[in-house]
Amino acid sequence: MDPLASQPRLLVTRKLPEEVEARIARSYRAEFNGDDRLIGPEELAAIAQAIEPDGLLVTPTDKMTPEVIDALPGSVKIIATFSVGYDHINVPAAAKRGIMVTNTPDVLTNATADIALLLMLGAARGAYWGERMVRENRWGAWSPTHPLGADVTGKRLGIYGMGRIGQAVARRARGFEMEIHYHNRRRLDPAEEQGAIFHQTLEDMLPHCDFLSINCASTPETRGSIDARRIALMPRGAIVVNTARGDIVDDDALIEALTSGHLLAAGLDVFKGEPAIDPRYRSLENVFLLPHLGSATTATRLAMGNRAVDNLDAFFRGERPRDVVHP
Ligand code: DGY
Repeated sequence: MDPLASQPRLLVTRKLPEEVEARIARSYRAEFNGDDRLIGPEELAAIAQAIEPDGLLVTPTDKMTPEVIDALPGSVKIIATFSVGYDHINVPAAAKRGIMVTNTPDVLTNATADIALLLMLGAARGAYWGERMVRENRWGAWSPTHPLGADVTGKRLGIYGMGRIGQAVARRARGFEMEIHYHNRRRLDPAEEQGAIFHQTLEDMLPHCDFLSINCASTPETRGSIDARRIALMPRGAIVVNTARGDIVDDDALIEALTSGHLLAAGLDVFKGEPAIDPRYRSLENVFLLPHLGSATTATRLAMGNRAVDNLDAFFRGERPRDVVHP
């Protein structure tokens, strides 16, 4: 694409894939973060005040609270996030200041759904303890009775949040002959449902979940919703996997259920307060832990960067960006 004639000023808060930064440099007067240093909220506002950018390109590590948004200079007209999730941006506060917010849907759907399946398999089959046994040279003779995991094939999977990623998880799970249940704000069309069983409420769905895959956005309604009361509705021996956001889960409740044996295992790619996760997870033997790898492939991160810049380019050309987020 041709460079933008007006060369808007852009503040890029994290180091992005090289090709994306090269593309930005052709069209914008950009302030990059070459060291990929984490910039705190106050510093971010101070840098923005100093350089008066027309737009910000942020990531989930930038907490764009109402205070930070209020402290941005009047020059800022758009915040493009390099992520599909935008729970780190207070969109109503941005709207109040006339700042548009965009995200990067679609391009990370497959990569994230792949990680959900990895977590389901890893948690059920004990990939984490198996790998550790081999690495730590604790692998004894093959035994008919231990260590043993649980089957995935043919089991019931409940998907909490049947958007793009939830549907991609369902497509993969059908390959494992799983019976798909889902809870979503709206029921899907039969063509999208592909035989998946809709539950009007989470409470209705949970008793049918041998596996629960969390794929909803973090919103005031979903935060903390996987709590002790709801976990108790799941069958004994169920498995929970989360590739959405950590704060959807009540950590105390999940850890208690994993410790008591009500839940057999969990697979977690996202955590409340990450990377400072609840330390109890580190010592639980029945959790498969990953460091927020959902979208972490080279091709996906490149596509996310290009999608974020497509949105910025459209905005600065006076067009409507494809991925505008609404309060
Ligand atoms: C997102 O895009 O919201 C992801 O969590 C980043 O992997």
